Amino acid sequence: PFMSELSGLSELERLIRDHFRLREVIVVPGDADEARETKRELGRAAGRVLIRSLQGGDVVAVTGGTTLAALAETITVDQPLKGVLFVPARGGFGESMDYQANTIASTLAKRTGAAYRLLHVPDHLSEDAYQSLMLEPNVREMVEVIRKSRIVVHGIGDAMVMARRRKMDTRTMDAMRAEGALAEALGYYFDKSGTVIHRMSTVGLRLDDLEKAEHVIAVAGGSSKGEAIAAVLRYGQDDVLVTDEGAARRLEAII
Ligand code: BG6
Repeated sequence: PFMSELSGLSELERLIRDHFRLREVIVVPGDADEARETKRELGRAAGRVLIRSLQGGDVVAVTGGTTLAALAETITVDQPLKGVLFVPARGGFGESMDYQANTIASTLAKRTGAAYRLLHVPDHLSEDAYQSLMLEPNVREMVEVIRKSRIVVHGIGDAMVMARRRKMDTRTMDAMRAEGALAEALGYYFDKSGTVIHRMSTVGLRLDDLEKAEHVIAVAGGSSKGEAIAAVLRYGQDDVLVTDEGAARRLEAII
């Protein structure tokens, strides 16, 4: 049974890869919605993909979230990653400390011997505050570094789950629901077809920067995220997906 399960997963990987025109898909066994260990496995698998994508001098932008936290907490290297810089992909989103992109970037750097830089911007910026923050030379310079990342590693969330977690106001949430919000990644909310319907105002990586990045790696699992993952993949800028069997079976059912 072990072998047939394995080949089952590699068939799933191929199916998803070809359908969404990805470079690579990795499916770990299990369902992160049901077992914490599966989320850690997901993190470990993503860590391995990241390590083998790295070159000296790389800037790697990472998002926050519990999945990326699992990556940061499980990553191991044989030799220190000299000359690699971890940065948060975007500024604050109102996430709890453990799951903020800044925390993930610094944990990754500490565990791998790489360097990190943080982006200190407040959550929930008004348009005015955003504009004046962008005039600050040190913020601007950091944003330029982030936007040139060669590698981006990001989580994917269910739109409404993320909106609630970030304490979005009810009016915006109702409007998003009416527009069919299904998925969230990098502070952008997507509908089923992968069209952006809302974006959070914070500084950092923009969605169109993903085009320039050479490795865009999405890490997300759990059967409840199947539809959300499909929506973000339809947006079309990911190169690699690291997921679990729970989410992959959902993807299989909708493609
Ligand atoms: C956030 C990322 O921090 O984590 C989001 O900015 C992502 O883009 C989310 O959707 C996923 O969170 P989790 O906890 O489900 O891994």
